[in-house]
Amino acid sequence: MASPRHFLDLDLLKSDELRRILDMGHAYKHPAAGAAAKNQPLAGRTLAMVFEKPSTRTRVSFELAMRQLGGDVVVLSAADSQMGRGEPVADTARVLSRYVDAIMMRTTEKSKLDEMAAYATVPVINGLTNLSHPCQIMADLMTLEEHKGGLNDKVVAWSGDGNNVATSWIHAAARFGFELRVASPEPLQPADELIEWARAQGGKVSVLNDPEAAVRGADCIVTDTWVSMGVEASVNRHNMLAPYRVDERLMAAAKPDAIFMHCLPAKRGEEVSAAVIDGPQSVVWDEAENRLHAQKGILAWCLA
Ligand code: CP
Repeated sequence: MASPRHFLDLDLLKSDELRRILDMGHAYKHPAAGAAAKNQPLAGRTLAMVFEKPSTRTRVSFELAMRQLGGDVVVLSAADSQMGRGEPVADTARVLSRYVDAIMMRTTEKSKLDEMAAYATVPVINGLTNLSHPCQIMADLMTLEEHKGGLNDKVVAWSGDGNNVATSWIHAAARFGFELRVASPEPLQPADELIEWARAQGGKVSVLNDPEAAVRGADCIVTDTWVSMGVEASVNRHNMLAPYRVDERLMAAAKPDAIFMHCLPAKRGEEVSAAVIDGPQSVVWDEAENRLHAQKGILAWCLA
């Protein structure tokens, strides 16, 4: 039996596969006239969604993507299932594989996603782990392409915590060829091995302390919450990250037509000022919408 086509992380997929998924996402967003109603490649297929952490966008966009492609979904909160009482992930994977055609998992530990993928006989999709968020970045890349054209001559600047979302941006830079500058306080910078991996792949990735230097000439500025799920808030963390807030002054240091992205949920006044996220350069609502279209591409790639 062929191995299932998992969507676990962008570094595990080749550029041409990722390009294909993105192209499908764009095509689902802009179907040819009359095609939408007939385009239901997942009719009769079911996706199980396993959540160990809260979600608004991931849950709603996957559910709607599946339904709009003709399929169905089952949602499990780990706490309300036997996983919450200690049933091994491996057993859950084997059982779910007998019922459904694919599994999307949002988990506290990457090792649990890997265990799900190792034991499932159906495709497993990473809906966020402590280490990465590849579905989000597929939507972000779609958004960048919509607003700025092709990816490979663009400059993207990340300002803030070098977290799981930043990691998937680094994977994407290595796969799509755009320049990525990550500005973070030293204790919150991405791991050296990750940067070395990206550079070994030909990725134009740099890590800086200075957010103004990072955004100079950038086409896009991205940030994320200072307190990711599972991370403890502290005054020290807040103080370390305060200089990395994306505010009007930092936006003004990028290209005049630079866009602002944030995967949401956002905390205005912390990682981003209200004037930026609610201002004319912000494309965060397009970005949130594109979760739906990009994930149709991912589901179709995994299942169709
Ligand atoms: N950006 C994102 O993954 O949003 P949710 O946590 O609401 O799913």
